[in-house]
Formats: sequence, C-alpha cells, structure tokens
Amino acid sequence: MSALKNRDGLLWGFVPSTTKNPRHSAYHQKTVIKRIENLDYVDAVKLLAQRAGLAVPEGKSNDGLTRLRTRIYEANREAAKFYNKFLYTPQGKDGLDYLKGRHLTDKTIIHFGLGYSPKSRFELVNCLKKKGFTESELIQANLANRSDKGYLFDRFSDRVMFPIIDLRGNVIAFGGRIMSDIKPKYLNTSDTPAFNKSRNLFALQFAKNKANGQLILVEGYMDVIALHQAGFENAVATLGTSLTNEQATIIKRYCEEVVICYDSDEAGQKATSRAISILRPTGLRIRILKVPSGKDPDEFISSYGEQGPARFRMLLEKSGNDADYRLQNLRAKYDLDITEQRVEFLTNAAKLISTFENSIEQDIYTAKLAEELDVSKDAISRQVQRFYKKKSRDENIRVQREIRDNLSAKNDRINIEKASNLRAAHAEETLLAIIMYDPGAAMKIFKRLPPEKFVTSFNRKVYETLKKHADAGYDFTLTDISGEFSNEEISSITRILASVPKEINSDEASDVCIRVLEEEAQKLTPEQKANADAQTLREQIKKLKEKKK
Ligand code: GTP
Ligand code: MN
Repeated sequence: MSALKNRDGLLWGFVPSTTKNPRHSAYHQKTVIKRIENLDYVDAVKLLAQRAGLAVPEGKSNDGLTRLRTRIYEANREAAKFYNKFLYTPQGKDGLDYLKGRHLTDKTIIHFGLGYSPKSRFELVNCLKKKGFTESELIQANLANRSDKGYLFDRFSDRVMFPIIDLRGNVIAFGGRIMSDIKPKYLNTSDTPAFNKSRNLFALQFAKNKANGQLILVEGYMDVIALHQAGFENAVATLGTSLTNEQATIIKRYCEEVVICYDSDEAGQKATSRAISILRPTGLRIRILKVPSGKDPDEFISSYGEQGPARFRMLLEKSGNDADYRLQNLRAKYDLDITEQRVEFLTNAAKLISTFENSIEQDIYTAKLAEELDVSKDAISRQVQRFYKKKSRDENIRVQREIRDNLSAKNDRINIEKASNLRAAHAEETLLAIIMYDPGAAMKIFKRLPPEKFVTSFNRKVYETLKKHADAGYDFTLTDISGEFSNEEISSITRILASVPKEINSDEASDVCIRVLEEEAQKLTPEQKANADAQTLREQIKKLKEKKK
C-alpha cells in the first residue's frame, strides 16, 4: 500500500492546502490507484489487479468466461508443445536452422519453448481437434481462422513461434516470425478472452525473479531472448505495441529502475522518448542504454561473439539516466558557439530541469550545466526556480478549476445530464453507492425502485446492470460489473462510490433518495423527458456501432 501512496505523492507533487479533505478534491480522485482508499479494500484490489491483467480470484459470477479462459490456456499449451515438437521434425528443419543461425542454443530454445508452425495450414487444427478442442475454442484462442468456405485453418504457418507466458505459467499467446522478408514480419495473437497485449510483457515470468531492482526494456522478442542467453535475464519486451500505462504499472511492481534499450534508429529513439514519458510518472528510475552503430541489442551481442555479453555489460554500466539523455538531446539542437543559441539552450535546459520532481536531481544538473557551459550556477538556478514556480502555479489553478467543475458537475462527460438534474443525480448516486456497499439494502432497493425512475441515463444504466447481476443471482460489486463499462465509465462509478460515506445509514438514506427521485420524476418537463430519451437513443446507436467494429 505504501508504494501506491508514494507513487501518487510523486505524481501530484503540488497539493494545495485547501484540498486536504480527500473527499472534496478532484485531484484526489484522479487515479484509480488512489481511490483504493475509498473503496471496499477487496474490491479495489480486485479491480486494480484485473485492470493490470493480473490473476483475480474468480467469483461464481463469471463461470462461463473462466471456463473459456481455461480452455484457451489448455489449447495454447498444446499448441506450444506441437510447435516445439515440429521444430525437430524433417519439415521443421528450416525453423531450427533459422534459430540456430541466429545464435540461439538448444538450451535457450527449450527455455523459451520456441517452435515452428508448419506450412500446411491444417496440422495444428487437426491435432487440437483430435485432442477434443472445439472449433469455437480454437477460433476464440485465435489459433485458427474460419475460411469463406467454412472450414478451419491454422492462423500461424511457416513461422518460428514464440510462446507468450503469463506470471502463472499459462501460455496466453504467440508471436510468430516469418523467416523471409515477407510482410508482416511478425504475426501475433490478437487479444482474446485470455490475452490482452497491453497488459503483459514478454519474458516477465523469468525476468521478475532476476530483476534484483532493475528490468531492461527492449523492443523485440529476439532482443529479449538474446539478452537472456547472454546472462541478462532481467530483460522484457512489449508485445508488438508501444509501451502502455498498464505495462509501466506492472514494471514498477517488480523493480525500482528500468533501463530502456530500444533500437538506435529514429523510430527507436522516438519510442524511447515516449516510453520515458510513460514511465516517469510511476516514479521509477530510468536509464537509457544507447546501442552504438545502429544495432539492436540482439545484433550488438551477436556481432561481438563471445565478447558480446561483456560488451553489453559495459554499455549497461555506462548508460545514463533519462535526465542526461534528454539534456543531451536538447543540446544537440544548438550551436553553442553562437551566443544567442547558447542562451536559448540554457533557457530550455532550465525549463527541462525544472520538470525534475526531485530537488537534489535539479541541483545536480544545474551544477553540471553551469560547469560545462561556464556560466554561474546561480543564474541557471534562478531560471529553474522561476519555471518551477510557474509550473506549480499553473498546476494549482488547474486543480482548483477541476475541483470547481467537479462540484458543479459541469464537466461530467460521462453523465452529461447530471448538470441539469443535480438533485436527482445525487440521489441516484447515493443509491448506487449503497447498493455496492450493502447487499442487504440493495435487495430492498431493487424491489422498490424500477430503473425507469432514474432520471439520468448513465446512472440508470449502472443501476440496470447492478440489478441484472443481482436478478441472475450473481455478485454485484464494482468488480463484477466492470466488464460492462469502459475505463472512463468505471472511473466515474468509482468516483460515485468515493463520494458517498461508507458509514451512511443505508435504510434511511435509501428512503430519502427514493423519495427525491419520485419527486424529481414529477418535475421533469416533457422536453427533459424527450432529452433523456434522446440520450438513451444516442447510447444505443453508439453501442450498435461499437458492436459492428
Ligand atoms: P528480428 O528482426 O527477428 O531481430 O526481430 P526483432 O525482435 O528485433 O523485431 P523488431 O525490432 O523488428 O521489432 C520489435 C518488435 O515489434 C517485434 O519483436 C514484434 O513484437 C513487433 N513487430 C515487428 N514487426 C512486426 C509486424 O510486422 N507486426 C507486428 N504485429 N508486430 C511486429
Ligand atoms: Mn532484431
């Protein structure tokens, strides 16, 4: 818990004193992480775990999904075994030669469970069908596709296969690399009920045990494998996408320092800057390892043969932190012999330094810069302070505005009807919170209050969803319904939960709220009623559109 708090402390370094009471501040409600304090503890942990793609103890509520997931894991495991076996058959020789040609040892191939998918597009499907998997399971696992004529064929063919394994050891997906120049070079499993590519990292199941405070983040599967083989078993990679916030959160859980080691080409450097901005708010220490002469880590290590690991170790040791990296990048843009450019560089450098959260870090870089450019440290320092203060001021104004907007509900983008129906919306929200806090009171509310009595359609939708779960005999906590809402909507519901004190007397409060809703319903003008209907209609259309995609 303390780590979570610490993280927020860093994120929200500028806390105005007027916002001490957490219930009244918008910034407080900013992240789901922070809201953990206001949620039922178990719910919050479950929700966070789920959003981070971790194991969640399954309740009885989603048995069907759990069963499907288990079947997908089983199918994937069989597929991984099949691909690996195939590597050692005569038809698999090309694949094995390819991996050997990329300097992978037998031990590495076994360690990562690498394999090869046959050219013929029916072998895996046939094998898995024989083992009792249904066509629907194979399609949902994304191991097979259905042809126009209606038969199933293997998704992966003639590719070397990289199984992707989660922290519990489940095979959740595959990456497959073509061995020629044909595009796409890599084909990955699309998201399935058992796999979300933005919430997992390649080789984290190994790296987490070897991290010892540090993870190395690289771009490719081959980079990870080459590094592990060279003894750097703390390397991980994203799964064919750029780094996501969820992955940053996961990385933060396993180390204090991350070394970004992307390709040294332009795309790689862009990706580095992006990764820095995603990792920075987590409070992780960041270092950048730049591989020389345009190579990626795998190529670098291979090119030095036996010397590879030692060479890479040297790079690792001298890799600077991201502050160095960013200052150097900035510096490269100016000709420091020209006075004007020198001034401009110093100003921008001061601005950059002012964004470092840590004042020691600020001081060190100020001193370094002063020495290197032969200017007084005081002058730079004053400039840094000026930017820093301006930033704090802007931040304060922003936070205050957010609080104001939040209180007036003017900016509720999720429940846009709230602003014009404040009294009803507050009653609705109180009821929703009571329902999620107190299942006993919830059942009474469900009996008394038909969903039509809700004035705002977003709250009505939440109510209907809760009621639907309850009617079906399922649990109806925030976690249980979270699958039916977008992240933004979940944030909004969490905010509702956080805004109602848990100690509220459920029965008394629900009496009052139901009465308010009845009164407010009387007051709705025909026009407002039409508006509410229009909003419902818009939502339905939006849903239909989403389904089509
Ligand atoms: P090699 O070329 O075999 O050394 O592969 P690499 O692992 O070095 O890959 P590269 O640096 O080219 O790309 C980095 C990562 O991006 C890969 O590991 C894949 O996850 C992903 N990637 C690369 N090409 C494609 C592609 O064509 N499609 C998809 N979906 N992902 C790709
Ligand atoms: Mn590569």
